[in-house]
Amino acid sequence: TAKVTLATLNAMSASKTPITVLTAYDYPTALLSETCGVDMVLVGDSLSQVALGHDSTTSITLDEMIHHAKAVTRGAKSAFVFADMPMGSFEVSLEQGVSNVLRMIKEGGVDGVKIEGGLEILPLVKRLSEIGIPVMPHLGLQPQRATSLSGYLVQGRAAKGALEIMETAKKMREAGAFAVLLEAVPSGVARVITEKVEGILTIGIGAGKDTSGQVLVITDVLGVYEEDVESISTQELDSTTSLASALVSAGTGTPRKPPTAPRFVRQFGSIGQESRRAIRAYIQAVKEGTFPDNKESYGMKKDEWEKFLE
Ligand code: KIV
Ligand code: NA
Repeated sequence: TAKVTLATLNAMSASKTPITVLTAYDYPTALLSETCGVDMVLVGDSLSQVALGHDSTTSITLDEMIHHAKAVTRGAKSAFVFADMPMGSFEVSLEQGVSNVLRMIKEGGVDGVKIEGGLEILPLVKRLSEIGIPVMPHLGLQPQRATSLSGYLVQGRAAKGALEIMETAKKMREAGAFAVLLEAVPSGVARVITEKVEGILTIGIGAGKDTSGQVLVITDVLGVYEEDVESISTQELDSTTSLASALVSAGTGTPRKPPTAPRFVRQFGSIGQESRRAIRAYIQAVKEGTFPDNKESYGMKKDEWEKFLE
């Protein structure tokens, strides 16, 4: 398939064709999007949690992000690929931001970058746009600031906050941003921004259906971390332990399905369940001695075998 360009994305927006975006963290996840024709692939810093097992996105480094971006761009050839600039890679100065974005573009091989922030990142957005780098500011809920926001909370529910997000989107447009990401904002706010801020794409997550496009985290879509009640011992599932904390203590990772998944997550598959079914079947076959069988093993010519035994 043909490479998705900014012109392709703008044409989709003009014809009201929703843009599909999924995160990818490595070659296999990128290849899934590539073979299914996802329009844009995001190397999200959510990889800190869902691929590296950290509690938040704040611990991931630029070097780690670039390492994963390289693998993603080897798999996603047609999609428009963009990457998150992680916390700590752009805040210190305009120079720091520009040179780190250039590293992400040149070493990671991505087409553009996404940066969390508000008016304080305007000079960076402007400079990047001037030097020809597509940039998507991330507005609304900014997970890199979850601590100062006191949690992963919906943003722009009051008129003042909603207006601030819209004003910021306008300024980002003036600074040259090609898109804004809107996370966890009321759907009406996202719709009005999409209608009123002309010349900019809106990509939503937890922002309703009236944005130019939608993004989800691929492990959520696939159900990689869906609850595995079978693997939790009854002792861990006592009355004071929630299923989620039991899963974490059982070492199955950070579950993002209820009760801990955000409202905007929809699980379209059950890969976690299917993966565990396959792994348990493998363990059982080895323990029983039914794997490997003769067809799965190599033989030797009779005379060679006899010479070998002598
Ligand atoms: O890091 C990420 O995956 C993201 C999307 C969820 C928007 O920023
Ligand atoms: Na992110």
